Amino acid sequence: MEFPASENRKPHAVCIPFPAQGHINPMLKLAMLLHHKGFHITFVNTEFNHRRLLRSRGLNSLDGLPDFCFETIPDGLPPSDENVTQSALSLFLSTPKNCLSPLRQLLVKLNSTSTSGPPVSCIIPDSIMSFAVIAAKEIGVPCACFSTSPAAIFLLSLSYRQLEEKGLLPLKDGSSLNDQMSTTINWIPGIKHIQIKDFPGFFHTTDSNDPMLQFLVTEVERCTTASAIISHSFNALESDVLSALSSICPPIHAIGPLQLLVDQLPENNLKSIGSNLWKEDAECLKWLDTKETDSVIYVSYGSITVMTPEKLVEFAWGLASSNQNFLWIIRPDLVVGEAAVLPAEFLEETKDRGLIAEWCSQEQVLNHRAVGGFLTHCGWNSMFESLYSGVPMLCWPFFADQTTNCKLACNDWGVGIELDKNVTRNAVELHVRELMQGEKGKAMRIKATEWKKKAEEAVASDGSSSSDLEKLVNKVLLSKP
Ligand code: UDX
Repeated sequence: MEFPASENRKPHAVCIPFPAQGHINPMLKLAMLLHHKGFHITFVNTEFNHRRLLRSRGLNSLDGLPDFCFETIPDGLPPSDENVTQSALSLFLSTPKNCLSPLRQLLVKLNSTSTSGPPVSCIIPDSIMSFAVIAAKEIGVPCACFSTSPAAIFLLSLSYRQLEEKGLLPLKDGSSLNDQMSTTINWIPGIKHIQIKDFPGFFHTTDSNDPMLQFLVTEVERCTTASAIISHSFNALESDVLSALSSICPPIHAIGPLQLLVDQLPENNLKSIGSNLWKEDAECLKWLDTKETDSVIYVSYGSITVMTPEKLVEFAWGLASSNQNFLWIIRPDLVVGEAAVLPAEFLEETKDRGLIAEWCSQEQVLNHRAVGGFLTHCGWNSMFESLYSGVPMLCWPFFADQTTNCKLACNDWGVGIELDKNVTRNAVELHVRELMQGEKGKAMRIKATEWKKKAEEAVASDGSSSSDLEKLVNKVLLSKP
């Protein structure tokens, strides 16, 4: 692609992530890639998350570069404790209602002659910030919705109306829930066999007006009116799903893993900006340096999952009895409504082989030679990062897309073992041992290494993700809608 000659003639992309860690991370990576391809970028965080980003870095302002600017819009929620992750449900209810108007005002500001940047030429919202499709149509620019989950989630969400028509969803009160959940669906093109229990957690409701369900279905449906869909996946991983989607959606571009594309960029100031809402504990990597290859299980539940104090203690004793080294991320807000407290005997017993931190640089951790397994809540970023680092997983899904992500990793991709929702110390011990030392663990490690290789092929200069990114830029973002 030709780099535009002058600053004012650059194309200008406005990137709008959903306001949660697992959505800001991939959007920032995409924005960095577009910037490298010659775009002027405006990256739009909510005011709440912008303050958190500044705080995690001890900064007063996030300066970016002259052609990579940060702007904010309000999320519409009342003020809340900035140490605690905002409720996903509150954000789902608020963003579609309250963010369109501030976005319109921002676009007016960015397009005014008094602003130094070029006029806005395209908009890239998260696929669950689809109100931005309306704003893009109003100002006549292309809009590509970025789905930060596997493509299968997008396809399943688009299938909801058919499931409803066939009387399979919502679930019915009265009749056996287990039977309904184990119904196998084999008529969704691109997905061979899937049980209702493996659908996104939002679908597991008896209420057709459930706000989470309504939110998800409305958002994906509106995305189909956008100029294009961007998927954080790659062709070899989900070829059937991507091909099924391409016949029912606007053009879909699978451009993952974004981090592997970002790794190819030259060093610049943007690479150090980062998007973590918590401060990373640098001790984690130093501690890993002292451990043997594949000897550490990394344990983390992403940015939203919460649990009871009892569950935390079950994980603790399971890790202790497994006798493996562990790096365990316990966010300050992990236990609902109270501080996470671990038994003193547990801390004493594991002090030589366990490290506990509040937050780390997860991608570096997963890439460290000492990490041989990942106990994960199955957020898509975590799973994808593990997959392209060649690390097999112990899967403990919590909500949303995580139930489906778990099924994909365990049944379809051969890189995961599922841990029951009602976790016990015995199950943790057994499965951690199996993952780290058992035959199944070994087989999964080989499989994960194969996926790592395929991910690297996808981002090579002639790979599917590199070519999809090029098409996205030239055929969508630089086009007139
Ligand atoms: C949310 C949803 O819960 C998830 O299901 C959806 O797929 C994306 O949005 P979250 O729960 O935070 O995300 O999980 P995940 O998708 O795994 O994202 C967490 C991100 O935080 C990852 O990119 C991970 O690398 C990063 N992280 C996590 C750190 O950098 N350090 C940590 O210590 C923990």
